[in-house]
Amino acid sequence: MVLKMDKNLTYDDYLQLKKELSFYSYRYYVLSEPVISDSEYDQRYHQLKAIEAQYPNWITSDSPTQRIGAPVSGKFEKVAHPAPILSLANAFDMNDLRAWYERIVKLDERVSTAEFVLEPKYDGLTVILHYENGILVRGATRGDGLIGEDITSNIRTLPTIPLQIPVLDRNISVPQRLVVRGEVLLFLADFEALNKKLEEAGEKTYVNPRNTASGSLRQLDPMITSSRPLKIFCYDIVDASDDIELPATQWETLQYLKTIGFPTSDLSQFAENIDEVVNYWPTWLERRDALPFEIDGVVVKTNQHAVVADLGFVGKDPRGAIAIKFPAREVSTTLQDIRVNVGRTGVLTPYAVLTPVEIGGVMVKQATLHNFDFIAEKDIRVGDRVFVKRAGDVIPYVVGPIKDTRSGAEKTYLPPQECPACGTQVEHFEGEVAWYCVNAACPAQLIRHLEHFVSRGAMDIVGLGIKIVEQLIEQKLIQDVADLYTLKSDDLLNLEGYAEKKVENVLAAIAASKAQPLNRLITALGINGVGEAMATDLAGKYADLDALKAASMPELESMDGVGPNIAQAIIDWFANPLNTQLLEKLRNVGVWPIVEHQQVERTAQVLSGLTFVITGTLPNYGRDEMKTLIQQHGGKVSGSVSRKTSYVVMGENAGSKADKASALNVAILNEAQLLEMLK
Ligand code: IVH
Repeated sequence: MVLKMDKNLTYDDYLQLKKELSFYSYRYYVLSEPVISDSEYDQRYHQLKAIEAQYPNWITSDSPTQRIGAPVSGKFEKVAHPAPILSLANAFDMNDLRAWYERIVKLDERVSTAEFVLEPKYDGLTVILHYENGILVRGATRGDGLIGEDITSNIRTLPTIPLQIPVLDRNISVPQRLVVRGEVLLFLADFEALNKKLEEAGEKTYVNPRNTASGSLRQLDPMITSSRPLKIFCYDIVDASDDIELPATQWETLQYLKTIGFPTSDLSQFAENIDEVVNYWPTWLERRDALPFEIDGVVVKTNQHAVVADLGFVGKDPRGAIAIKFPAREVSTTLQDIRVNVGRTGVLTPYAVLTPVEIGGVMVKQATLHNFDFIAEKDIRVGDRVFVKRAGDVIPYVVGPIKDTRSGAEKTYLPPQECPACGTQVEHFEGEVAWYCVNAACPAQLIRHLEHFVSRGAMDIVGLGIKIVEQLIEQKLIQDVADLYTLKSDDLLNLEGYAEKKVENVLAAIAASKAQPLNRLITALGINGVGEAMATDLAGKYADLDALKAASMPELESMDGVGPNIAQAIIDWFANPLNTQLLEKLRNVGVWPIVEHQQVERTAQVLSGLTFVITGTLPNYGRDEMKTLIQQHGGKVSGSVSRKTSYVVMGENAGSKADKASALNVAILNEAQLLEMLK
């Protein structure tokens, strides 16, 4: 309908246009399936504005022109809810779920044949939306469950909340009074973008999406709320007039809310019985990370409303529903202290000492604080209550402080002026965030250096763990990595927890490492920017460490993947007198691999230009061994399959890489076929 702006325009035309616009915005915002173009929408919207300018007394609050109203003065009014806004009891695993089921079966035997609905437990903020004659008249927070705050003007700014219920199916009616419950939240990507924007504007950032949703809804100025891309999912009818019969089950309620135009989630599931609920649970655990918004569990609801009502409550929790909570990944705890770790290259990294707290089934006592700038930017103080997050394999990290709970006793943190391990003055390089300890003999750096030297990708000395390394350094049994090779069994036998057999094994592993090829020794030296791949390239060109030491800047830079920074780091490393001393010691103890380049060059031809991906367990070769073998023959090894992959070398129990290889038509070899290629 395109209305003509003439005198004959009736009030009914105005109502019709408002209705249409409400439908268009539902299609656009809720379904993301617009039925008209943006410019057509704008055209109609302006038409509506023009009518309203002509007849200001026609304007009502459900007009799309009225989404952003005037700021609330002072504070929000209180509103009594039409029915208690209930909460949920929690279950933490399937045993708890079964126990809940057993309890309610005993109370009501209809439960034994009951169906259930699984819904995401949205990690947001509950809101209560009141509609009269299909028009939004009030929006409230949950408050204490009986009385909430009137946040109508903020609620109205959410484009997915209908100001006028669109009612998408003419055969369905809506009760004259309808009160709907939903959860307002912020999608993760929007949260990150918002924080970035706030940070750039020098404003306070939010700790997590939930706090952001809550903070945004409690702004006094709806203009601010409207600038936050808040979303809502509706899941319950709290109250309604009895002019229309409403669905008798939760599953139908969700369908009903959807058909009349409320945003609902497609993730909800119908379960025939409790066993089906249990079967669905693992999929939810997996799905959790892939969702664009945070959920903190799954709500299981007995489908029949009548059964839920008859089961009654325990306190504020209905017996007929339960929330199965995911293991939390973000919890709050107290920051007891900030300490500093010294890395292999001397970088100082601050970390948090926490009051131990369980996160996702793991006790966490420490968490990284990233760098000193982070502490200053977030204004993290010792004694603060902080949010700590642990997701997947990521090292736990401090998200930020909870400033509202400060007592005043918290202490601002000042970065150390001296290395906490050796007392040397710390240094800062232009353009870098990090602070460094530049003392090459720093014991903390030595520990990290040794850890790296013995690691699997470097000299691969099995059995020489961090505990023993720390003891060796503490007791001054070793001062550098070369000293490992002169250790005697008596030295080790004096250490805590080292019996004869173990000592023998460790010494044998140290001795065996002398035979490691040059590329591994280069990796083990830990030159900045020189990883395993680069070390292999260098060993392919230089026969030993003397040759590498003699390499010039232009010569190094001429190599693939070596830029000026890495070339300079190599030159600097060899120029350092402490390293010259170390090299002499290594030579004297017999750690001095020499590459027979003729042989390398001859074999290098075979796989040159080819890229391999290794997956699964190979019958005779370890993955690292296979990698070295391929590299020694001139091939490249990559971690993921792409169109550029020449072959996938596949062993047993290969995972998704094998599927990807077939999908991309990449040839697959087994170990024997690859060895055949080398002949
Ligand atoms: S139902 C009887 N369903 O979780 C109705 N609540 O821990 C009780 N929540 O206060 C609530 N997603 O804010 C229900 N799909 C969902 C939910 C949900 C999130 C929140 C809600 C409630 C809290 C209880």
